[in-house]
Amino acid sequence: MVSLTINSSPHQLDVDPDMPLLWAIRDHANLTGTKFGCGAGLCGACTVHLDGEPVRACQTPVGDAVGKNITTIEGLDGRVAGAVQAAWKKLDVVQCGYCQPGQIMSAVGLLSQNNKPSDADIDTAMDGNVCRCATYVRIRAAVHEAARELA
Ligand code: FES
Ligand code: FES
Repeated sequence: MVSLTINSSPHQLDVDPDMPLLWAIRDHANLTGTKFGCGAGLCGACTVHLDGEPVRACQTPVGDAVGKNITTIEGLDGRVAGAVQAAWKKLDVVQCGYCQPGQIMSAVGLLSQNNKPSDADIDTAMDGNVCRCATYVRIRAAVHEAARELA
């Protein structure tokens, strides 16, 4: 049994500490907003926050998350997350939506550290988040829009 804190709630999960955190979140805690894409750390669909830092849940063993605050797309809240979600809606960023939980987790991670990112900062921070629908231009614009709202 492993004790995890997910979205501020305690979870006792019957999982191996070596299991990828993604499966614990999706299949054991039943939080399916975090997506499986590549399973190899290449697409960013599985991005969650560990103590506020974006990580790839498919590459993070459950044991590494013990004692940390895990935040998934379902648990995002606060000023930065609100601004990002509003900007995503305002600019109609989403196409099929599959990559978007991961995109939003990365954007919130970026804006929590840097409230006025340049295009280069955005491209660097979002580089590992792949979008098959190529919404990259709208994502970049929405990050700028959220930064303006937060200023
Ligand atoms: S599913 Fe984790 S990076 Fe692609
Ligand atoms: S919106 Fe379809 S994969 Fe990104």
